[in-house]
Amino acid sequence: MDRKQHWDTVYTSKAETEVSWFQDNPATSLALIEQAAIGLDAAVVDIGGGASRLVDALLARQYRSISVLDIAVDALAKSKARLGAQAADVTWIVADITRWQPPQQYALWHDRAVFHFLTDPADRLAYRTALLAGTAAGNRIIIASFALDGPERCSGLPVMRYAPETLQAELGTPFVLTDSRHEEHRTPGGGVQRFQYSCFIRT
Ligand SMILES: C[S@@+](CC[C@H](N)C(=O)[O-])C[C@H]1O[C@@H](n2cnc3c(N)ncnc32)[C@H](O)[C@@H]1O
Repeated sequence: MDRKQHWDTVYTSKAETEVSWFQDNPATSLALIEQAAIGLDAAVVDIGGGASRLVDALLARQYRSISVLDIAVDALAKSKARLGAQAADVTWIVADITRWQPPQQYALWHDRAVFHFLTDPADRLAYRTALLAGTAAGNRIIIASFALDGPERCSGLPVMRYAPETLQAELGTPFVLTDSRHEEHRTPGGGVQRFQYSCFIRT
């Protein structure tokens, strides 16, 4: 099964609240986005946003330029259905991040649990190419992944686990680590998954 088929099947077969990565309140992401102090008109993109409720929370906080990208069309359909008329205020992008050519630069690039699926170095390089095209000096990047003591697999797929320092090494210059957080994510099934969130500024 290819990558797109895998994720399409996940979102057609499970409710958004059943997937292991579901968060009712994406509190750590929100705190780090607010800390980035980008301004409410600044462009924000949620890479591999899936059916995450981060977009709802950003709309509620009056962010006005929000894009959500995902490889799975059904993931975005779930968010659009949940948001109703407000969905029209968001730019929805169906794309594989390793092939995406950003149409603009984003003041804030957010990724929770997407980069960590890129186990092939060529895919990580392609992600970085998109990141370079989609950001400019001064822009902020938040990447959340499983931590070094987090799970080795997610959604039946192998993942890479990171510490902020290893993520910094992966991104290289011109990205500079500015902050990080640990999070113990409670899955809907009652398990605990250790995440790390790393914040970077592009210099
Ligand atoms: C573990 S889920 C996390 C979803 C969301 N970020 C959250 O925190 O709820 C991973 C998401 O990345 C998407 N995804 C996986 N590989 C991708 C790729 N190469 N390009 C774009 N999206 C991808 C999946 O469809 C899925 O929605």
